[in-house]
Formats: sequence, structure tokens, C-alpha cells
Amino acid sequence: MENEKFYITTPIYYPSDKLHIGHTYCTVATDAMARYKRLQGCDVMFLTGTDEHGQKIEDKAREAGVTPKEFVDNIVEGPKGVKDLWKLMNISNDRFIRTTDGYHVSAVQKIFKKMHDNGDIYKGTYKGKYCKPCESFWTESQLVDGKCPDCGREVQDAEEEAYFFRLSKYADRVRDLLENTDFLQPRSRVNEMVKNFIDPGLEDLCVSRTSFTWGIPVDFDPGHVVYVWVDALFNYTTALGFLNEQYGDYAKYWPADVHFVGKEIVRFHSIIWPAMLMSMDMPLPKHVFGHGWLLLDGGKMSKSKGNVVDPYILAEKFGVDALRFFLMRTFPFGSDGNFSNELLIQTINTDLANDLGNLVSRTTAMVGKYFGGALPAGCGAIDDERFLADAAAQGSSVELSAVNPADPSLYDAQLVAMAGGLRGVYASAMDAFAPHTALSEVFKLIQRANKYIDETAPWTLAKDMEANGARLAHVLYNLLEASRICGILLSPFMPESMEKLFVQIGAGPEVQTWDSAAKWGLLPETTTVTKGENLFPRIDMDKALEELEALEAEARKAALPPIELEPQLTESVDFDTFCKSDFRVVKVKACEAVKKSEKLLKFTLDDGTGTDRQILSGIHKFYEPETLVGKTLVAIVNLPPRKMMGQMSCGMLLSAVHTEHGEEKLNLIMLDDAIPAGAKLC
Ligand code: MSP
Repeated sequence: MENEKFYITTPIYYPSDKLHIGHTYCTVATDAMARYKRLQGCDVMFLTGTDEHGQKIEDKAREAGVTPKEFVDNIVEGPKGVKDLWKLMNISNDRFIRTTDGYHVSAVQKIFKKMHDNGDIYKGTYKGKYCKPCESFWTESQLVDGKCPDCGREVQDAEEEAYFFRLSKYADRVRDLLENTDFLQPRSRVNEMVKNFIDPGLEDLCVSRTSFTWGIPVDFDPGHVVYVWVDALFNYTTALGFLNEQYGDYAKYWPADVHFVGKEIVRFHSIIWPAMLMSMDMPLPKHVFGHGWLLLDGGKMSKSKGNVVDPYILAEKFGVDALRFFLMRTFPFGSDGNFSNELLIQTINTDLANDLGNLVSRTTAMVGKYFGGALPAGCGAIDDERFLADAAAQGSSVELSAVNPADPSLYDAQLVAMAGGLRGVYASAMDAFAPHTALSEVFKLIQRANKYIDETAPWTLAKDMEANGARLAHVLYNLLEASRICGILLSPFMPESMEKLFVQIGAGPEVQTWDSAAKWGLLPETTTVTKGENLFPRIDMDKALEELEALEAEARKAALPPIELEPQLTESVDFDTFCKSDFRVVKVKACEAVKKSEKLLKFTLDDGTGTDRQILSGIHKFYEPETLVGKTLVAIVNLPPRKMMGQMSCGMLLSAVHTEHGEEKLNLIMLDDAIPAGAKLC
């Protein structure tokens, strides 16, 4: 394992909005895996980054009034942007790629040209359906109820000259890869891919667009930009230096050991990606793991639904490590899981405060209280050799069967046996991409150690130090050792807190290694133990939920565009005067711009009287006249008639006005078309 290379990636994120806890989930999982491999001594390359091209980004930038590059720069590099979030979450990526980086752009152009030159990319006409939010093309047969099969939203008709990739040519090889190897995991995803995409017949894939420009230009055919998924998927290789001079470790790290991806992008990674690599004659990644989604109230989180969970708030409130741990411990990695603040607090309280926190604080407190902070020499020696053979033979989930209460050293045997087997079961789970199982194994030992405290009752032993002092020291030493081993195996998940744990139990770097996690009795017996700050304080559920709600409400408010409203009038108007205003429902029969006026629109309105009413309104800046014909509006009809630009205006149309980002906004009050003209508003 020493120096064995391990290349792991996260998906590269769309910087179209700030990232939420769902995005954080995959990156934390990848980070834990990368740290685990480093702990084992592997030479790890951990890549993450951002996928910055495509129509969605172009549209968002236009809405924001900035260039696409300025738009993505802000979300990637700006305050509380992607890079800030990974720093906060203690993500240890070795490299960060942005698909707008020059080296990537030119490499993708070379890749596209190569597939074109070898005949796998050809020119045709694209007719089909396009899902804008997902940036995905679909054929009619792939739609579900006429909607995008990934996100369930409406799709648009699309027809344009485009380049196609001969995906169909690779159908058999991809099927074989999926069905007959362990390339795609978990296995249930294989069935989904084969049934939904391969069995119905793989069609060639449209890989260029001409209807927008924010993409990598096809250098041999101006006007075309490379389909964003072709651009994005090759990031895994360009970031190592494939077809560019920026980096030089493609030969060392490619093929990737595993791509971690969310379930909705498994199709791209397990069908399109291997097919393109086959076309390029490049080795295939060893594994793609499709993890599940974090759901909120049973549905997917999304900015447009307004139900995203902000990792900044949670990390600030509960700590980065507690949040990282919760994500990995609670949700089986291959399945969907329902996120809730209650579950988060409950997990922190049960596992971290009660189980782990208590084990460490009780143990260190007792070493302090009974031995002044350092145990006596000789306390680590295992005084009963009988269980050593058993210990070696046991896995962590198997307990020694019979314990003779008169022979307390058998409790020691159980603890040591479990600890001895733990590293093996933990590694098997991690290697199978099941971090939740690995954590659950560690917690079995933590729970066992807490039980050992109750069984050995150190406070009773302490009553007669002369008779039981040696036994007491040994019990406490065993507890420190169990804590040390758990600390090592938890460190990929909670790196900072485990450093604190090591300081508290007096474990130096030489006994924090992967090797030392499989050996009992390595902690120096007389090491200095310090009862430090509580690693994971217990959280008051009700109070925390209330505070979270307030913080979330504040954040939602801060995310709203700064809106300025006219101050409300304080001077009151008497009811009779108010009732003299005659507000009526009117229907727009015709609407046109008033000649020589930049502002005025002339409305011909049905006001229910049988005679047309004419009103002029200075709202041309906000509406094109033809869009208002047929609309049902509200007018005050008993204002004195007024002449404007030589035309009469008999009344006024009602609108809602406010200022947003310093810009005046106006919305005509529009009513349901079922309401008849002339109806009075009161
Ligand atoms: N840009 C593409 C990936 C290209 S990789 C060559 C993309 N980006 S994304 O920002 O939309 O999503 C990135 C990852 O976040 C995906 O794997 C996606 O599944 C994951 N998640 C987004 N929301 C999620 C949850 N609510 N829960 C878990 N993961 C989620 O797709």
C-alpha cells in the first residue's frame, strides 16, 4: 500500500448558484476517502473543481448584468464561494480545476479534433428535446411523461446543425463494462443504466451547440461550441496534464481509481465517459460510484425550490467536524437520505457527545483524578495472556462469549479483541465505498469501551488504591488505547477534533499511524493525559432548532435582492373621502406607444360602460404595448380628465412600484381574466 497511487475525484460543480449541503456531501465523502488512503500511506491525488460553461451560466450572467466569466469568478473565488466552502469544510484536495482555465480549453479542443479525425464525431442536424437546467439532450423516447427524465422539468424542441458523437458504436462494449465488471457501483445503478439507456438502444450524442457562445469553441468550425458534458468529463484527465503542459502527472495517476458522483450524473459517467475514452483509446477509470441524494422533506434540494440548506450556517453552529461526521455516519452512501436539523443534532448528541465525547472525557478525567494525569509504568502490560489468542482471532463485531464476572480480565479480552479486529473491518468497508459502515464499526468499539467503564467500575476500584491501584491503572490504560485506535480511524472524517483527542490522551504522531491502529499497547504507559475542552458539547435540541431557524431566516432575507419601498404615509384619510375613489376592472382592447413620447402608452379600455375609455400611462419603459392587449387591469376612473402630448387621459392604471438594486421596477396590477370589465373594487 505504501506509495501505491490513488486518484479520486468529485464531480466538478456548476457555479450557477452558491453550493448547498448536498454538494458538500459528496466532497466530504471524497475528502474522507482521500484522507483514509493517505493514512494508509498511498500517494493520493484528489481533484475537485468547477464546470463553468453552458447556456445556464450564460443566462444567469445576463440576468445579473455581468459577463459569464465575471459571474463564475464571483461564485468560485468570491466570498463564501466554492473555494471558500472547501476551505471551511477542511477539504484536502490536491488540485482544483476550472474548466475556463486556458490549459483545459485548449486540451478539450485537441480532444474534440481527435475524435472528429478518427471518425467518431461527425456533422448532422440535431432534432430533439433539450432540458435547459440540466443542459441535457434527450430523444423523445427517453422523456418521462414528456418531461426531462432527470429533473422532471419541461423540455424544449431543439433543431440545429450540430456535431454528433458515435455513442451507438460503443454500446456493446459499454454494456459489457457495466454488466461484467465492477466498474459501476453500487450494483443497483448498473441495472438502472442498462434498463433505461442501453436496452432501448444507445443513440449518437449531440456534442456541439450553435445557439449560444459560452463554451469551448470548436476550433475547426467557428460558431460551434463543445457540448458542456464533453468539456466537463475530460477535466479528470486535463487536470493531470493530458494534452497540455500545465501539469505532468497524467501517466502517473490516470486511470482514476474512483469517480464519486451523484446518482443523476451516473449516466454521463458510466456510459458517455467510457465511450469517449474508448474512442480516444485511453484507459478507463477503475470505478464510478453513484451516491444518493440528501433530500429535504422527501424532495431534492434546489435553489429554485428555495429549500437549500446552507453549510456555512451548520458549520458555524455545530462545528465543521460534527457536520462532516453527521453526513458520513447517517446516510448510507449509495442511497438517498432525508436531511433534517433534528437528525443532525440527535446524531451529534448521541454519537459524539454521549459516546465518543464521554469516553474521552471520563477517561482523561479519571486519569487526572486518580493518578494526577499520568499512569504508572507497567500499567499497559496485559496481565492475563489467556485472551491474546482469542483477541487475534476475533473480528470487531464478534464478542467473546462467556464472561465470568469473577474474572474481570475477560472484559479486557473483549475490548482488546474488538479493537484488534477493528482496522480490518473498517478498511473493508472503506474499500467498498461504505464510509457509513466503517463509522458504525468504530462506534461499536466506542460503545464497547463505555460499557467496559460500567463493567469495571473504576470509581469502586479507586476506593482502595492500595489493593486495586494497579488494576485501576490498567483499566484506564485500556480505555486510552481504545480511544487512540478509534481516534486514528475517525481522523479521515474529523481531522481537527481527532488531533485534539490525541493531545488529550497523550498520543504522539508515532502512535497515530495506520500501522499502529492495528496494534494494542502502543501508547506510552506514562504519557501525560490532559482533560481538555469537551470535544463535542451536548446540544440543547429545542434551543438550537430555534436559533437555527432564526439564522436561516436571516440568511434567506440577506439573499433577497435589496429592495427599497416607498415609505408608508402616516397621514390618515377619512373613510368617506376614500370611498369617493372609483376603482374599476378594465380590459385592454388596444395599446400603442404615443408618437414622439418615449414614456407614454395609450390604452383603449373596456370599462364595462359600453363606451371605450382612453388612458395614457408613462410605463413604456416597463412594457411593450402589444404584450398588454387582452390583460385585465385596475383603473381609477373618476380622476379629472387630463391632456398629455395632445391626447386625453381619463383615469389612471394602478401598478405596484419598488426599487431593486437601485433600479425602478413597476408591475401593473393584473387580475384574473374571469373578472368582468366594470367590476368595482371596494
Ligand atoms: N457539473 C456537473 C458535474 C460534472 S462532472 C464532470 C454537475 N454539477 S452540480 O453542481 O450540479 O452537481 C455536482 C454534484 O453535486 C453532483 O454529483 C450532484 O449529484 C451533487 N448533488 C447536488 N445536490 C445534491 C444533493 N441534494 N444530495 C447529494 N448530492 C447532490 O452535476
